[in-house]
Amino acid sequence: MKGGDFIIGSDFCSLPFLFFYAKILLVMKNRVYIKDLKDNVGKEIIIAGWVNIRRDQGKMVFFDMRDMTGLVQCVALPSRADVIEKAKEIRPEWVLKITGIVNKRPDKNVKQDTLNGDVELEVTNIEILNTAETAPFQINESSIEVNEDLRMKYKYLDLRTERMQKNIRMRDKIVTFFRKYMHNNDFIEIETPILMKGTPEGSREYVVPSRLFNGQFYVLPQSPQQFKQLCMVAGFEKYFQIARCMRDEDTRGDRQPEFTQLDYEMSFVTQEEVLEYTETMFIELVKNVYPEKKITQIPFPRMSYAQSMEKYGSDKPDLRVDKNNPNELAFVWILDFPMFEKTDERELQAVHHPFCSIKEEDKKKFMKGEDLFSIRANAYDLVLNSYELSSGSIRIHERDIQKQVFKLLNISEEEQQKKFGHMLEAFTFGAPPHGGFAPGIDRIVMILQNEPNIREVIAFPKTGEGRDLMMGSPAPITEKQLKELGIKLSK
Ligand code: AMO
Repeated sequence: MKGGDFIIGSDFCSLPFLFFYAKILLVMKNRVYIKDLKDNVGKEIIIAGWVNIRRDQGKMVFFDMRDMTGLVQCVALPSRADVIEKAKEIRPEWVLKITGIVNKRPDKNVKQDTLNGDVELEVTNIEILNTAETAPFQINESSIEVNEDLRMKYKYLDLRTERMQKNIRMRDKIVTFFRKYMHNNDFIEIETPILMKGTPEGSREYVVPSRLFNGQFYVLPQSPQQFKQLCMVAGFEKYFQIARCMRDEDTRGDRQPEFTQLDYEMSFVTQEEVLEYTETMFIELVKNVYPEKKITQIPFPRMSYAQSMEKYGSDKPDLRVDKNNPNELAFVWILDFPMFEKTDERELQAVHHPFCSIKEEDKKKFMKGEDLFSIRANAYDLVLNSYELSSGSIRIHERDIQKQVFKLLNISEEEQQKKFGHMLEAFTFGAPPHGGFAPGIDRIVMILQNEPNIREVIAFPKTGEGRDLMMGSPAPITEKQLKELGIKLSK
């Protein structure tokens, strides 16, 4: 197919469509963003957006228009009968193209420190681009007090509110900062698979049935842990990814079934280098994107896991001086995590994951398999205001050491080959020493935006039960799909 062929003979070619398309193009071409009105005083210009609020004062009608850049007050004057008539018809959330003259407001009406506080738009024409039903909640104020299920069902409306727009736009700023920072430091972004085999990171995995191999399954990544280590074996040396991770676990205020990590890995690094790189990056982030915030202590304080547990009874201590100050950021490093712990079912598991290397001082015990709970890993967390922001470690890069971890975790030779044969084999082909880290983006944005939970900083989050009330997932699939997948549901 040649470029352009796709519209021939289709509905897209119809005359009404072409008119509509030309009209939209025209709107875009001449349109001024609301934030730029101050540069157009005295001129007749076009804006496009949504009606934020309308105040009908009989002879005159005032309404605020909103676009992605802000708000402006529009005035329909009695001298323009056709404009007044239309202005009386419009309702909140209708989509309009407004032509108008940008006027300075009289001095007594100037609102200091607000966008367009000193200008308004004298409307000369209103074109209604679309109408809107009455919204199920107010769009022109914060929706934080609105029933959350309602917000979730109408997420696209919730996202129109100023607070949510700010959160999602600040999230973009933070992610953009990280991407630039990583690139400036010679990291490259590598996308790793979403359909994969399990990663043993402690949580239950989401499972995806295979159609071509009935009875076999992919799982969704809990993190790109194994792939990023394999990127080190592949010689990339500095990898990063804004990585989507999926974990089938109970949600909480700081947990979602789907979330995003700034995942990174470096070859030939020491723990100290990972810590220093990360610390500088977070200091720069705050300086550049949140200059109003203050970091309590630089360099970030450090303590061992054992010290933190002894002093604070937690590995996520809150070191803020004033816990009510929304602009205080108390980072703290927690180091030397134990390698092993018992699960609730009394089974042995790795505290972080089985790929962490062992502290030199504890290697003897480790090789002998003695006193397992006293063995420490080269594993570290970064904690911010009582939240675990990130985990990481210097990894194992030698096959025999990795096998010893699996052995101590009671993973049989056969199981090791089945689950981790690819890692064990990769370590025999010149795997460099390596280590990394993975700050959770959602938690970072939540804390920096002073939000009470990560659902407020994710555009389309899941409910506490892991449901999407807007799309309606999870949902049944058709009999045909089940059959193709070779799946029979038990009653
Ligand atoms: P870990 O499992 O500790 O480490 O995850 C790292 C960071 O990811 C964030 N996070 C979450 N955020 C929201 N919802 C969740 N359900 C959720 N789970 C984790 C947290 C956490 O600190 N592969 C390793 C990292 C490494 O060793 O490099 C890993 O995923 O902010």
